Amino acid sequence: MNCILSPSLLSADFTKLGKEIKICEENNVPYLHIDVMDGMFVPNISIGIPVVKSIRKITDLVLDVHLMIVKPERYIDAFAEAGSDIINIHYEATDNCIPVLKRIRELGKKAALTIKPKTSYEDVLPFAEYTDMFLVMSVEPGFGGQSFIDSTLKNVEGLAEYKAKNRLNYDIEIDGGINTDNLTRPLDAGANVIVAGSAIFGKEDIVNRIQKFNEIMSRY
Ligand code: DX5
Ligand code: ZN
Repeated sequence: MNCILSPSLLSADFTKLGKEIKICEENNVPYLHIDVMDGMFVPNISIGIPVVKSIRKITDLVLDVHLMIVKPERYIDAFAEAGSDIINIHYEATDNCIPVLKRIRELGKKAALTIKPKTSYEDVLPFAEYTDMFLVMSVEPGFGGQSFIDSTLKNVEGLAEYKAKNRLNYDIEIDGGINTDNLTRPLDAGANVIVAGSAIFGKEDIVNRIQKFNEIMSRY
């Protein structure tokens, strides 16, 4: 399995964003995870379209944009235009995700469908054919630095089982509370795209932290 690290910029130092992105590039990180919060779907506000646009100008890394916003259909075109490569929408945030996922693909982007910890993977299986990646939240969305919720591994396992049984090839991403001590658990469960925010940024030694992730992930 080829595993992908997607560092969450939510925990980066926004005064040094260019520099921290450069460190990711120099250490073979393939994706950057960008968390967009609207203060409605989640009780926090983060960054939006202008920041995605600025990041697009300085890097060719895959921009993995996680929209924690109500009715994401309102902003798909804008985030595509800003330079997103993958657009993650929440299953819980829209009445009908099929047209939204279709629109993302129509714009030439990868469509990802995200579930909160209390949502079951079974609820999103009907959308597998419209989805390039499922994102399993392993914390309640809204904040970095929370503890991993063990029960969410069953969502990863369920998606992995369904994928193998039906010979599908969507990616399975996991987001929230992941560090180098618990990383093997989602990997063993079948996740192949790993988001990590506070375990990478926010302290000294970003390089060592990325390398430790890379080392563990290379075993899978
Ligand atoms: C939370 C975000 C995450 C967050 C992860 O709502 O979706 O991407 O940045 O941060 P850590 O890795 O610190 O839990
Ligand atoms: Zn996220």
